Amino acid sequence: MTDRYAVMGNPIAHSKSPQIHSAFAKQTGQDICYEALLAPIDGFSVQAQQFFGGGGKGLNVTVPFKLQAWQLADQHTERALQAGSVNTLMMTDQSQLLGENTDGLGLVNDILNNHGGQIEDKRVLVLGAGGAVRGVLGPILEQQPKTLVIANRTLAKAVQLAELFQGPTMVEGCGFDALDGQQFDLVINGTAASLQGELPPLPQHLLAANAWCYDMMYSVADTVFCQWAKEQGAAKAPDGLGMLVEQAAESFYLWRGVRPKTQPVIEQIRSQLS
Ligand code: ATR
Repeated sequence: MTDRYAVMGNPIAHSKSPQIHSAFAKQTGQDICYEALLAPIDGFSVQAQQFFGGGGKGLNVTVPFKLQAWQLADQHTERALQAGSVNTLMMTDQSQLLGENTDGLGLVNDILNNHGGQIEDKRVLVLGAGGAVRGVLGPILEQQPKTLVIANRTLAKAVQLAELFQGPTMVEGCGFDALDGQQFDLVINGTAASLQGELPPLPQHLLAANAWCYDMMYSVADTVFCQWAKEQGAAKAPDGLGMLVEQAAESFYLWRGVRPKTQPVIEQIRSQLS
């Protein structure tokens, strides 16, 4: 019997997840169907429970429901506990709803495997301190950067996140003004500024020689952050399309136990953007 999966969000019409998972299923010969479901802003839990009650096997969860998905889950993976949010739900054989967060792995896999980058031993700056950033900090820190700075418009949120993720790597939270005079090898934009076509107020000379930048957002043309990175001489400045496909691949692997090839799917989705 065909197993049912879906992505739930609001809005959801723009979601590329159905195309990505259909491509994974075709490539790996898995018998699944995957649809995009719009949940009412105040009705995520009810709709998710209906989906699983009706035999659904797994859900991807997107904006603005990742926190509610965390609350709905009966069990959490270590990564979901760290992230404080869930982007993947799976009904287990014991009828328990398992919550996972694959966003951070998606980001790290894209930087390391698709672009040939490195996080280990690098001075990493993450811009933003919202839910999207919290979701990726654990896997970034697993790569053992030399230092990790979180800079945010609202200072208190950066400081709070830095405290939460303190460990073997020194993690510091600051405002954008405190970046003046500092240099980084990798700058990751996790603010929502790109969505509004805006750029966080970043000082000149922020990038060390051969520094990389990465925008967790993606768009048809370069995002304003990717444009800024190129102007500042970044060695590479990919956008987050690869992260989107990689996080989907991790969800697919959790659900199906099969690892799809991501490169052809990234190319397919990129060509459909333009
Ligand atoms: P998300 O789930 O996308 O992380 P969020 O939790 O609302 O959404 O967080 C949005 C992040 O983008 C925050 O770090 C926000 O900064 P504040 O904490 O100061 O609100 C940041 N952000 C949004 N618009 C921005 C802008 N124009 N310039 C700089 N930062 C911005």
